[in-house]
Amino acid sequence: MTNLPRLKIGNHSPRYPIIQGGMGVKISGSRLAGSVAASGGIGTIASVGLACDHPLYEGWNYFDINEMAVADAVKTARAAASGGIIAVNCMVALTDYDRQVRSAAEAGVDLIVSGAGLPMKLPEYTKDFPDVALAPIVSSVKAADLIIRKWGKLYDRLPDAIVVETPLYAGGHLGATRMEHVTDEAFSLERVVPELAKYLQDVVKTDIPVIAAGGIWDRSDMLRAFGLGASGVQMGTRFACTEEGDADMRYKQAYIDATPDDVLVIMSPVGIPGRVLRNPFVEKYISGNVESKPCMAACLSHCSYLKDRSTFCIAQALVDAYQGNWETGLFFTGSNVVKCTKLEKVSDIFKELVGGGE
Ligand SMILES: Cc1cc2nc3c(=O)[nH]c(=O)nc-3n(C[C@H](O)[C@H](O)[C@H](O)COP(=O)(O)O)c2cc1C
Repeated sequence: MTNLPRLKIGNHSPRYPIIQGGMGVKISGSRLAGSVAASGGIGTIASVGLACDHPLYEGWNYFDINEMAVADAVKTARAAASGGIIAVNCMVALTDYDRQVRSAAEAGVDLIVSGAGLPMKLPEYTKDFPDVALAPIVSSVKAADLIIRKWGKLYDRLPDAIVVETPLYAGGHLGATRMEHVTDEAFSLERVVPELAKYLQDVVKTDIPVIAAGGIWDRSDMLRAFGLGASGVQMGTRFACTEEGDADMRYKQAYIDATPDDVLVIMSPVGIPGRVLRNPFVEKYISGNVESKPCMAACLSHCSYLKDRSTFCIAQALVDAYQGNWETGLFFTGSNVVKCTKLEKVSDIFKELVGGGE
C-alpha cells in the first residue's frame, strides 16, 4: 500500500490530496463540490456564469446576480460538505472577477483557485480574509515566478498552493497562448512539476504544495504525479460525469459516448485554445458558419465576439451545454473523456483512487 501525501493548503487539510477542479459553466456547482468535499477531497465550485439559472436572473442584472449566486453556491456546498473543504474557481479573464472573488471570500470559502490569466491582484481582493487560501493555476515555472515576485513585492504574501495544469490533456481553456503549446512536451507535468518543486525549494525556499492537473484519471496517474513531486492532484473530466455532477444528463451522456475522434482543440473567443467535444456547433464554427446567440453580458475582458462579432458568445454556448443542448452547446472536456464509459458516483471514485491507503 502506498501512503498518499498529506496535503495542506493554508490552514486547510483535506483527508485526501485530491481536488475536483472548477468546471464552468455550472458543470461543477454546489452539488458536485459538496459531494467531493464530503468524500474527503476539496470540492470546487466554478464561479463563472452561475447567474444563468438563478431564480432572480433577468438578463440585465447578470453581474449582481452572479455575485449573489457565488455566495449562495458556497453556502449550499458547505451545508452538504460534512465539514469538508470548499473552494471556488474564479477566472481572471472575467469582467466581474474581483466581485466574484470578494463574494466567495465573504461567504466563507476555504480556498480560491484562480487561472485563465495570471491572478496578480488576488491577494488585494481577499486581504480582509486571511483564512482564505489562494492557489494560482499556471502551466509553466515562468508564470509561477512572475506571480510569486509580484505577490511578494506588493502584498508580502506567497501562494498557499500552485496548480500546474498541463495543456496537453486538460479540459476547458488551456494555459497556452499559442496552438502549438498544446502539444509541446515542455508543458507536460513530467517537465513542469519537478522543475516547479525544485524552484520552490531552492529559490523561494518554501514548501508550497504543487498540485498536478490535466490527464489524471486513476490511481496510477495520481501516484505518478506524486512521484514527480506533486503533493496533490486536481481532476476535472472524471468528476463531470458523476451522478452528483451539476450538468444535465445529456451532457454526461455526451462524455460517455465520446470517441478519440470527438476530442479536439479550438481557438476560443477568449483568444486561447480550449479542448472541446466535436458536435454540430463546433463543426459549424470550424467551417466558418457558426450562428451565435447574442452577447449575454460582456462577461469577458477580451472577447472576439464582443469586439467584432467574429466567433460566438461563449457564455451562451457553455450554458447551452450545461443544459444538455447538443446542437448549440460548447462541451468542454479533457482528453481523458475517452475513458469515460459510465456515470459514476463521487464516493466510488474516491474508493478507487485512495484504495484504502491514506
Ligand atoms: C467542462 C470543463 C470546464 C472547465 N472549466 C474551468 C473553469 O471554469 N476554470 C478553470 O480554471 N478550469 C476549468 N477547467 C479545468 C479543470 O478545472 C481541470 O483543471 C482540468 O479539467 C483537469 O484536467 P482533466 O479534465 O484531465 O482532469 C474545466 C474543465 C472541464 C472539463
